Amino acid sequence: MFDFAPAADAAKPDIYRDLVSAADALTTGESDGVANMANVAALLGEFLPDCNWAGFYRMVDGELVLGPFSGRPACIRIALGVGVCGAAAQSGETQLVKDVHAFPGHIACDARSRSELVVPVVRDGKVIGVIDIDSPDLARFDEDDRDGIEALASLLSRRI
Ligand code: SME
Repeated sequence: MFDFAPAADAAKPDIYRDLVSAADALTTGESDGVANMANVAALLGEFLPDCNWAGFYRMVDGELVLGPFSGRPACIRIALGVGVCGAAAQSGETQLVKDVHAFPGHIACDARSRSELVVPVVRDGKVIGVIDIDSPDLARFDEDDRDGIEALASLLSRRI
């Protein structure tokens, strides 16, 4: 049984340190990428307060396709360059969006989402997918969240 949980009053860097450590423990030695994404999506849902959606989109034949996630059912296919996920996948750069309504082309999969963080997962210089996290709060994400999810993406580069 896995019983990972952050302390209720933990600081963000500590939450992410524990999250990455738990993700490492869960995915070490497991070669099935879907299983690894599923467990990490579950961890994200457990560890991150004030978030309504967290999970993966995978790069498949030049477009993003929905992967394992924690949250409500979401858009299945996203073209490169479209929305926050498509921008992250096309540019290879993290998108930290304080107000999704101000982001041109934002895709509203869940009408509750107000801010969003999308981090590309890169393997051998190519974007193989993105980690997407949504919050119902404005400006939920900051540099600590970006650093934490980028560390997670780096860990998962060869495990998904
Ligand atoms: N809002 C995202 C789409 C994915 S959902 O949030 C799960 C976007 O604009 O790319």
